[in-house]
Amino acid sequence: MNVTVTGAGGQIGYALLFRIASGDLLGPTTPVNLTLLEIPSGRAAAEGTALELQDCAFPLLRTVTVTEDPVRAFDGVNIALLVGSKPRAVGMERVALLESNGRIFGPAGGALNAGAAPDVRVLVVGNPVNTNTLVASAFAPDIPADRFTAMTRLDHNRGVAQLAVRLQLHVAEIDGLTIWGNHSASQYPDVFHATAGGRPVSELVGREWLADEFIPRVANRGYEIIQARGASSVASAASAVVDHVYDWVNGTGERWTSAGIVSDGSYGVPAGLVSSFPVRSVDGRWEIVPDLAINAFSRARIDASVAELLDERDAIRALGLLPAGR
Ligand code: NAD
Ligand code: LMR
Repeated sequence: MNVTVTGAGGQIGYALLFRIASGDLLGPTTPVNLTLLEIPSGRAAAEGTALELQDCAFPLLRTVTVTEDPVRAFDGVNIALLVGSKPRAVGMERVALLESNGRIFGPAGGALNAGAAPDVRVLVVGNPVNTNTLVASAFAPDIPADRFTAMTRLDHNRGVAQLAVRLQLHVAEIDGLTIWGNHSASQYPDVFHATAGGRPVSELVGREWLADEFIPRVANRGYEIIQARGASSVASAASAVVDHVYDWVNGTGERWTSAGIVSDGSYGVPAGLVSSFPVRSVDGRWEIVPDLAINAFSRARIDASVAELLDERDAIRALGLLPAGR
């Protein structure tokens, strides 16, 4: 499999590349050709990482290529991990990155369109991730929109971990959590279909705890990490990339997870927006979990996050970052 990581010389790149090369991303029998895309200022770091990858003597790692040319980087790519972009710093919301990072994802979409493999799967990590995914997909008209995904798996994992701590259970006993909407402070971690140790979570925790502690904790965890580390999440983000792609390729079975995907209009999310949904991976495709009852508590929060996604789309349109007519 040909795997390309953009921003490979950055922090997440450094945490991610070794997990890909060791077989965590695609499984222990799939050899990998890695391509590391950088801009000139990040090239030396990517070259250094390539040397270290070589020194690991990973049995599954066939080739490592470092390049600054997006067309070369995406030629024949099966898995494209679009990490390259600026992270936010203390005092910023992710949306503040919209203009500077948004400009990166149109050309990336165009280069993917030019040469990606027919089965390409794209995961966007760079923030603001939902809208960057929308931009990349818009510039890749020949690639089906369902191949473009935005990473909300880190939010999902954060929510699972917080529930496990609160209920004093193992993370594997939590199922059916959903992250809806935007990977921002407006995201909605929904427990109303979740179970913990086989029991409905909504019977185990009160709405006050949900509204005042759980939801804000999960939604603002990225900022909590920035304040604690002085820099945004890295290893947990790389781990979520591995989880997302592994599940996409290998399937989730009956359990579900969360991913940002192009809406088909389900659950009142306007078609074409990139929103987080409850999803299962079936036969190599993400499917939205259908027919969940949405109560008033959830509806208001999903709608608020979707409204923010519409605002972001309007903003990038106004900046001329979408192709004409989109
Ligand atoms: P970083 O600054 O350490 O690394 C980013 C790298 O991208 C740099 O090496 C830079 O040279 C490179 N780059 C910039 N523009 C590029 C381009 N056009 N093509 C290729 N490479 C380019 O940042 P990081 O900590 O690795 O974070 C990367 C992104 O991931 C940020 O936008 C951050 O906010 C986001 N992020 C998202 C999630 C999520 O859950 N979706 C989680 C953590 C971080
Ligand atoms: C995160 O959720 O950790 C990332 O999106 C980084 C950030 O800016 O919060």
